[in-house]
Amino acid sequence: MIESAPPISLRHITRRFGPVVANDDVSLELAPGEIHGLVGENGAGKSTLMRVLYGLLQPDSGTIEVAGRAVRIHSPAAAMRLGLGMVHQHFMLVDSLTVAENVTLGREPLGALGSYSPAAAEREVAALAARHGLPVDPGARIETLSVGAQQRVEILKALYHGARVLILDEPTAVLTPQEVDDLFRVLRELQAQGTTIVLITHKLAEVTALAQRVTVMRAGRVVGGGAIAEHPVERMAELMVGHAIPPLHARAHHEECVPLLRVRLLDVLDDRGLQAVKRASFEVHSGEIVGLAGVEGNGQHELVECLAGLRRAQHGDILIADRDCTALTARGRAAAGLAHIPSDRLRRGLVPEMTLAENLVLGRQREPDAGHGPLLPRRALEARAAGVLAEYDVRPPEPGRQARQLSGGNQQKLIAARELSRGAAVVLAAHPTRGVDLGAIAFLHQRLLRERDAGRAVLLVSSELSEILALSDRIFVMYEGRLVHETRPAETDERTLGLHMTGRRGAVAP
Ligand SMILES: Nc1ncnc2c1ncn2[C@@H]1O[C@H](COP(=O)(O)OP(=O)(O)OP(=O)(O)O)[C@@H](O)[C@H]1O
Ligand SMILES: [Mg+2]
Repeated sequence: MIESAPPISLRHITRRFGPVVANDDVSLELAPGEIHGLVGENGAGKSTLMRVLYGLLQPDSGTIEVAGRAVRIHSPAAAMRLGLGMVHQHFMLVDSLTVAENVTLGREPLGALGSYSPAAAEREVAALAARHGLPVDPGARIETLSVGAQQRVEILKALYHGARVLILDEPTAVLTPQEVDDLFRVLRELQAQGTTIVLITHKLAEVTALAQRVTVMRAGRVVGGGAIAEHPVERMAELMVGHAIPPLHARAHHEECVPLLRVRLLDVLDDRGLQAVKRASFEVHSGEIVGLAGVEGNGQHELVECLAGLRRAQHGDILIADRDCTALTARGRAAAGLAHIPSDRLRRGLVPEMTLAENLVLGRQREPDAGHGPLLPRRALEARAAGVLAEYDVRPPEPGRQARQLSGGNQQKLIAARELSRGAAVVLAAHPTRGVDLGAIAFLHQRLLRERDAGRAVLLVSSELSEILALSDRIFVMYEGRLVHETRPAETDERTLGLHMTGRRGAVAP
């Protein structure tokens, strides 16, 4: 028998962080078995609302009803008991444990002797995975898994703990088109079994494809929503930002051809000492954006870290504007003309405890135009920061606020602001728009095109194929550590790239 999901009402939820009202009198109804899209700009309050529902945050006021009963959800454990599950924007798995250990954590199956039985856990997880069509290896350690596989583990974990209402916070931001198709198939099957699903996403087409209803948030409030049929993509976008979004400008073409970044026969090892990049050779010219497409875990991460000076090259060399930088540190490369927007914003891009103003001069303290870092009077630093924050639309644009208080997308904008405002010859942009909203994506895309038009060399690494296709002059596909395919946007499409990315296509497209 199918046990159907309970109806859920969030009524008049308000949640403040100091002066910021992250949720301002928000009400939301989740009908049993529906897929409900939750959209809004960066910082609109989507994650906050769902963290309140999942017991990670307590509301300042407002009530929650599950199956018609008022409840207090003090913790995620309490949420799980009510049948709620959540897959977070930043995964929360324990890297050093296995899939089965992560899935069963907190409700471990016991063996014959009454103690934790790894074999029993793996069997149960394998059965659950098979039942839901979520392929995983129960014995594998999390740290060895691709992002797509880690996400399947998160979903299995929620299901193992009995979730009938599944909250997914930007689940497709890190997936390939094929993985997105697989995820959608799983979500539709879960829905068919009566599960309610909340889908937070910046990709409005996904809402159209999956959801029956949508709620649009802006600046902490619900500004609209209802049946999908009455909310085409343009309508959702308009509600989100409060005005229509201009299309990407056609670009002025550059014919210049000076190689600013030259990579020759590069070998790089991963954290486990395995060869992650194998004999990579390529150039990026001035006035050119080169897109690097690939499924996460095929060496792009190690390649980018090596180019940025954060990981040693085993073999080969790296030239920035004709200067051999292979032996330089990250700081040395920055001085030689390299800007780096890292994919892992929390670990590499920001110091969460420092202020926005401090983060904006991070790593630039020795550059002449940055003044003298710590010696520069705080007020001058903050005044300059305020201008950059406004230009890049970082919200709230308060230089003295700690970076950890920004929403995910606004943290990304902060890093882009720092790296793109320094006039470096070579820009290394790794997943520059991951987790940012439509308006900010359009803005960051314009900025990257502007860098290119100013004669810079841009290497764009992205798992977002639409982004690679829209911005790149040339595209490389990376698969199992090698550059296996070179093409141009006009000569390819998402499906073809996706096939090369998964090794299912030889070197030549038909
Ligand atoms: N722990 C916190 N401390 C202070 N402010 C916070 C905290 N968490 C969220 N905020 C603020 O609350 C607001 C809403 O943030 P939230 O993370 O809910 O946005 P979001 O809609 O999920 O955005 P994104 O699309 O960027 O993930 C933002 O202004 C953010 O800066
Ligand atoms: Mg969020």
